[in-house]
Amino acid sequence: MKILVLGSGAREHAIILSLRSEADDHEIFAAPGNAGIAQDATLVDLDQLDGAAIAAFANERGVDLVVVGPEAPLVAGVADVLRERGIPVFGPGRAAAQLEGSKAFAKRIMDAAGVPTGRAVRASTQAEVEAAFDDLGAPHVVKADGLAAGKGVIVTTDRAEALAHAEHYLPAGPVLIEEFLTGPEVSLFFLSDGDTVRALSPAQDFKRALDGDGGPNTGGMGAYSPLPWLADDFGSVEAFVAEVTDTVALPVVRQLDAEGTPFIGLLYAGLILTPAGVRVIEFNARFGDPETQVVLPRLRTPLSRLLLAAASGTLEDEPQPEFSSDVAITVVLASEGYPEAPQTGRMIEGLADAASVDGVSVVHAATGAPDAPGGSLVATGGRVLNVVATGSDFADARARAYEAIGRISLDGAHYRHDIAARVAE
Ligand code: AMP
Ligand code: GLY
Repeated sequence: MKILVLGSGAREHAIILSLRSEADDHEIFAAPGNAGIAQDATLVDLDQLDGAAIAAFANERGVDLVVVGPEAPLVAGVADVLRERGIPVFGPGRAAAQLEGSKAFAKRIMDAAGVPTGRAVRASTQAEVEAAFDDLGAPHVVKADGLAAGKGVIVTTDRAEALAHAEHYLPAGPVLIEEFLTGPEVSLFFLSDGDTVRALSPAQDFKRALDGDGGPNTGGMGAYSPLPWLADDFGSVEAFVAEVTDTVALPVVRQLDAEGTPFIGLLYAGLILTPAGVRVIEFNARFGDPETQVVLPRLRTPLSRLLLAAASGTLEDEPQPEFSSDVAITVVLASEGYPEAPQTGRMIEGLADAASVDGVSVVHAATGAPDAPGGSLVATGGRVLNVVATGSDFADARARAYEAIGRISLDGAHYRHDIAARVAE
């Protein structure tokens, strides 16, 4: 197949590596991609928000499938433009992408579909925010309504800090004040063709910058899959997946379909397992980053086949995706100063040495071409790359991942040392 992947992060690199691992030899294009993706796909200079230009490229080259990686093109309606022109696209249209683009929209859909989630109040003024704090109690959870690149949510016991966060976003529109939920978090991905869903294997993300879940929230500093401890409460990982399919994914997909805005793409359920049961914290309308980097290396069913079936409305004909019994972990290497003020432009050394560790691949998030021909790649952003390791158990995969990341040098870089440490014990 000819496949065009939109996006430029480690998630897109992981998708491309998964496509490349298939028996079929695909021709893969990436726009805009990054220096690591350039080693595995042909980079195309396209604006990922320009649906007409993407459609023109897809038609000219006879692209069979467009995979939209990030949320911004989805919310901008790029998938609608492609679908209107008959180009198979994996990614929801603008309306269904509001599930991620607007927290208020997501709450409305969950209410209509009877999906379990935290109680939330929409507040438009400082007085309404304060009243909601009184009503829901501490700790306080405040969520900006629109896309905020991971910065829109605050969870704090400090009322003044929570109020300041709300006031920062209020000029742009109402904020959500949500009841505080506690328990382990799980990311579960569903492929959807608008009607039928197929679950992937659960993963867990490490959102805080520092070891022991300290420091600020980030886009994600590491992940692992599967989550064997789910069997403690649910009997088996499969039983957990079946429950979330029936109580979360299918009701939401049916609700969106009934509203005439079918969800075609990846439904990311961000869940929290509270003592009272599973609750949805958020939906995303695309693959999670960095969870994708640990889910896809374990997928045995060809990814291209699943994505095309979802894009073409034929998921019902596909068997359940199969996963390897191997486990996977990923550790994110971040630039000095990430997340507040990442330092960029520095050289990265040791990539080949890291990738030579058994079971390891290096997935690029923000890398750029060398300053001079033959030189080293440079870091161009906060989350620079991910070391992904598979192994027969978590101790094995951790040993490989940390051996590999230790071989990479980038001045001032940092990473967490405790990814999947608890599950390895
Ligand atoms: P979100 O952007 O909605 O995923 O929120 C970011 C993070 O904030 C989540 O991964 C949780 O760790 C935390 N969070 C969000 N909502 C709640 C809540 N109601 N209770 C506790 N923590 C939350
Ligand atoms: N890992 C969190 C996200 O992809 O939004």
